Amino acid sequence: MRILSGIQPSGTLHLGNYFGMMRPAIELQEKGDAFYFIADYHSMTSLFDPAERRQNSLNVALDFLACGLDPQRTVFFRQSDVPEVTELSWILSTLTPMSLLEKCHSFKDKTAKGFPVNHGLFAYPVLMAADILLYDSNVVPVGQDQKQHVEVTRDIAIKFNEAYGETFVIPEPQIRGETAKVPGIDGEKMSKSYGNTIEIFGEEKALRKKVMSIKMDSRLPAEPKPDAEQNLAIQLLRVIDAGAGREYEEKLRAGGLGYGDLKKKLFEVYWEHFAGARAKRAELAANLDYVQGVLREGAAKAHAVAGKVLQRARKASGLE
Ligand code: ADP
Ligand code: TRP
Repeated sequence: MRILSGIQPSGTLHLGNYFGMMRPAIELQEKGDAFYFIADYHSMTSLFDPAERRQNSLNVALDFLACGLDPQRTVFFRQSDVPEVTELSWILSTLTPMSLLEKCHSFKDKTAKGFPVNHGLFAYPVLMAADILLYDSNVVPVGQDQKQHVEVTRDIAIKFNEAYGETFVIPEPQIRGETAKVPGIDGEKMSKSYGNTIEIFGEEKALRKKVMSIKMDSRLPAEPKPDAEQNLAIQLLRVIDAGAGREYEEKLRAGGLGYGDLKKKLFEVYWEHFAGARAKRAELAANLDYVQGVLREGAAKAHAVAGKVLQRARKASGLE
């Protein structure tokens, strides 16, 4: 079974990225042949600072390795190190109805929010389809917001197979129910673009301040809270540690637990959860040659697979 996923180096990775995509992807390493990559071509649709892209790409590599991506088991690479993906993207784009892309939520949301939209952003799901199809992927672990893009990939692959004969494997998205949509500190979906994130790694004091700034209502500590499951700190606690989440939800429901103490607990559980990864990350950051070596080796392995699949598509469509 080939498992594939990617993450954009468009900012600092946060708990939504970790619990929605990275942890499920890391767990899946054991279950098959995993390919994970840093989607730097995709980041070009929204980030225009070269130094920032370079730095973010390195940070994603450090974060992923620190969180448990095992390069002995998993092919880990930078998307742009296998530029064949852009050729496949072109081929696929000629079979992609405009209407399919016009329906994509991520594009519609960005337009609605008044972001300046470029053609790359519109065509983004086609490049994502190329990412997935180029490696004969069976399973794509992602958060809920990417489900539609995997469905677009399936539609495009089916169209290609119908037009030019059986060429591509049809992939399945894999979405974890309980962490499909991790809320941010404002209660909306946690996202780099909404400024509501809790980062996986960062400076302790600033992160503590962020957690303590989560807004609560004005009810007194002693009051029982029958709606405890809707409390944002409880929801986040449950994502990080289900046991602590249940325990504190009951305490809040019963009354007697103040919001300040609840948020302190949330910070502690969060900080502790990543203690091992934080130490590992510091080690890796002191050994960047190793990290670059991992990406180089990953690119070579990815390249070998991509070359074969691209040739299949070129032959099927009459380019060869
Ligand atoms: P962002 O919205 O912060 O820009 P990305 O779109 O780069 O995040 O997402 C990278 C991966 O992390 C995707 O698989 C996405 O589904 C997942 N993800 C992002 N935010 C969340 C969230 N709040 N909850 C669950 N998964 C998320
Ligand atoms: N679009 C994905 C995101 O923003 C990143 C991505 C690019 C991806 N190519 C992919 C995810 C292929 C899974 C498979 O999160």
